[in-house]
Amino acid sequence: MKALVYHGPGEKVWEDVPDATVQEPTDVVVRVDTTTICGTDLHILQGDVAAVTDGRILGHEAVGTVTEVGDAVRGFHVGDRVLVPAITKCGRCAYCQRGMPSHCQTVGGIGWIFGHLIDGTQAEFVRVPYADTSLYSVPDDVTNEQAIFLADSLPTGYEVGVLAGNVRPGDTVAVVGAGAVGLAAILTTGLWGASKVIAIDSNKFRLTKALEFGATDAVEVGPDVVADVIALTDGLGVEVAIEAVGYPQTLRTAASLVRPGGTIANIGVHGAPVELPMQDMWIQNIALTMGLVDTVSIPTLLKMVASGRIPAEKMGTHSFTFDQIDDAYDVFKNAAANEALKVVITP
Ligand SMILES: NC(=O)c1ccc[n+]([C@@H]2O[C@H](COP(=O)([O-])OP(=O)(O)OC[C@H]3O[C@@H](n4cnc5c(N)ncnc54)[C@H](O)[C@@H]3O)[C@@H](O)[C@H]2O)c1
Ligand SMILES: [Zn+2]
Ligand SMILES: [Zn+2]
Repeated sequence: MKALVYHGPGEKVWEDVPDATVQEPTDVVVRVDTTTICGTDLHILQGDVAAVTDGRILGHEAVGTVTEVGDAVRGFHVGDRVLVPAITKCGRCAYCQRGMPSHCQTVGGIGWIFGHLIDGTQAEFVRVPYADTSLYSVPDDVTNEQAIFLADSLPTGYEVGVLAGNVRPGDTVAVVGAGAVGLAAILTTGLWGASKVIAIDSNKFRLTKALEFGATDAVEVGPDVVADVIALTDGLGVEVAIEAVGYPQTLRTAASLVRPGGTIANIGVHGAPVELPMQDMWIQNIALTMGLVDTVSIPTLLKMVASGRIPAEKMGTHSFTFDQIDDAYDVFKNAAANEALKVVITP
């Protein structure tokens, strides 16, 4: 089979590799019918993720068809159309049992293993461990081009942004950063009845998209960004400020927007310490949340996509085939210049 193999910083090749096979009785093999690229894949290619070593197949998102089933697998059969999520879960360890498979102990202490600790999904076939507890059947009325964004981006915006931020009916919500993850938060904020959703970004195309995804207001980042957003909230600030960029200044912006009693939900992956004005924040009863996505909201999101409440397909702006995967990476790497959000890659 062919797969996109990492060969050290800056090096990746679509090349021949040994076929994916069942290795444990709890495994299945899935033929990848649709995959995509995540910002994390770009971090790996920059050499930022030390656990990813030479020879690893990249990718942690897929929709595909089961082609081989281990002896212990009961819930899936050859021919089933399945969603392979970014997080793998054994279902039995202490973290899986408390609904936090992001820290599944059985698969290595972190639930994100595809394209990280084991071979990933940017390949013709992928081996899926703990298939019964990790895979999701895709309903007939959900297309591959919709389901693929439920593997990572949509659950991340929803779980780490909207749910952790505790968005409630009537709330005013600010989302700092309108990339795929910020847009996923914007797309799902309405499910909890936010009355106002303010998108904040430095990129005009992303702000236009944010309005299409359900934001009520769009604010371009400038020296007065905090005052501009506060002015949209009758001077009060927002109930929930979601951070979806990952820089110190964007988390500080989110912190400056939230009103007393509100929540800052940090989604961004930070690579450096962040200084926050705790001397002002403590007395305002501010909550600060953060975390790695669990993808446990996938069943909910699949229902909402199937019923038309979440137009997940809007995330995909560009399509490629496997042999164009280098072009897909180039477009995604320069997403802003290419007016791209997520890419859809198929055989
Ligand atoms: N917590 C998790 O489990 C998890 C999972 C996936 C991704 N993430 C993180 O979420 C963040 C967003 O991911 P993404 O894929 O949407 O990234 P992205 O690069 O597509 O989007 C980031 C957006 O932020 C905007 N931006 C850049 N600088 C800004 C600034 N100073 N002010 C306002 N906006 C600014 C960009 O224009 C872009 O639209 C990243 O940090 C990513 O690593 C976290
Ligand atoms: Zn990802
Ligand atoms: Zn587990």
